Amino acid sequence: MTYTPAEDRYERMTYSRCGKSGLKLPAISLGLWHNFGNDTPHALKQSIVRKAFDLGITHFDLANNYGPPGGSAELAFGEILKTDLDGYRDELVISSKAGYGMWPGPYGEWGSRKYLIASCDQSLKRLGLDYVDIFYSHRFDPDTPLEETCGALDHIVRSGRALYVGLSSYNSKRTREAVAILKGLGTPCLIHQPSYSMINRWIEEDGLIDTLEELGIGSIVFSPLAQGMLTSKYLGGIPEESRAAQDKSLNREFLNERNVENIRTLNAIAERRGQTLAQMALAWVLRGDRITTALIGASKPSQVEDCVKALERRDFTPDELAEIDTYAKEADINLWAASAERKGPARKKK
Ligand SMILES: NC(=O)c1ccc[n+]([C@@H]2O[C@H](COP(=O)([O-])OP(=O)(O)OC[C@H]3O[C@@H](n4cnc5c(N)ncnc54)[C@H](OP(=O)(O)O)[C@@H]3O)[C@@H](O)[C@H]2O)c1
Repeated sequence: MTYTPAEDRYERMTYSRCGKSGLKLPAISLGLWHNFGNDTPHALKQSIVRKAFDLGITHFDLANNYGPPGGSAELAFGEILKTDLDGYRDELVISSKAGYGMWPGPYGEWGSRKYLIASCDQSLKRLGLDYVDIFYSHRFDPDTPLEETCGALDHIVRSGRALYVGLSSYNSKRTREAVAILKGLGTPCLIHQPSYSMINRWIEEDGLIDTLEELGIGSIVFSPLAQGMLTSKYLGGIPEESRAAQDKSLNREFLNERNVENIRTLNAIAERRGQTLAQMALAWVLRGDRITTALIGASKPSQVEDCVKALERRDFTPDELAEIDTYAKEADINLWAASAERKGPARKKK
């Protein structure tokens, strides 16, 4: 069926300036890490993207390795751009990244100039685009000079492959270093993409959140629902269709008694506020306007709808925040800790 975007799509969403840049991003963005690979029917992917755009979500986040298999999420999104969003390119902010393993051999991962530029070209081809809006270094590479990684990002912008550059999962110290190099090159860092949620608060402890504010860099926080843990779905066990049941990135061990007990109490607080837990979790990461946008994933359109409703109740009283703090405890779920040169759970993200 042909798709015509909702005419009122800009009425409910709010848009904030990304750091000190000229670019505005929606309060909620959609990521295609899961549910956009070859194991998901195309019509479902299409319906999720359509719902998001209809609700004012203008920012879609991808990476070379999203699938499975790697590359298939970009291919699927490229197809949707052609069939559904032709003519709307200038209303969209599309990002991609390179850093994790994408092809065999010594040039298929990390942060070399060789890998980043080749990967960006591959992503553009899969997406069917001339340029992406944002291109990221997906993780810090301890073995490649940061000057080389940043030089490649600068080249990607100067050659017209991307409009802006970003960093993902770099810790505060590495962020400062990369931002200074990029500034010197004349391609300022637009945005940082770290993980952050009520039960994964490393950016507070590391100081990254303060660093970004100080440097005037925007932030897009991924897995704000802790991959679905911060919803009501796991309160009574592991539902069959859930991410935890798929045995991919959401390790069942994360759903231990201690974590679920805290989540149960957070759910009760959300209910008292008249919100779903997912909505409260999103309002919480966006509290105080320090975070530009919350980057969610969704396995069906109704989840996108539920998440966007978070914007109807974003305020918290000091008492609510204090109560949430009692239960918003580190759940040891940060799969990306090693990418930020930090200790974390042994299981590593793909
Ligand atoms: N830079 C990086 O290294 C990195 C790493 C990871 C992710 N990301 C980005 O961040 C995006 C989001 O990550 P994520 O998918 O982990 O985010 P998330 O929003 O924390 O989790 C998404 C999952 O939560 C569940 N969900 C979402 N809304 C719901 C609702 N309203 N009610 C009930 N359940 C709901 C769904 O799980 P079910 O599938 O169980 O229904 C959904 O797949 C990715 O797509 C990617 O773009 C970046």
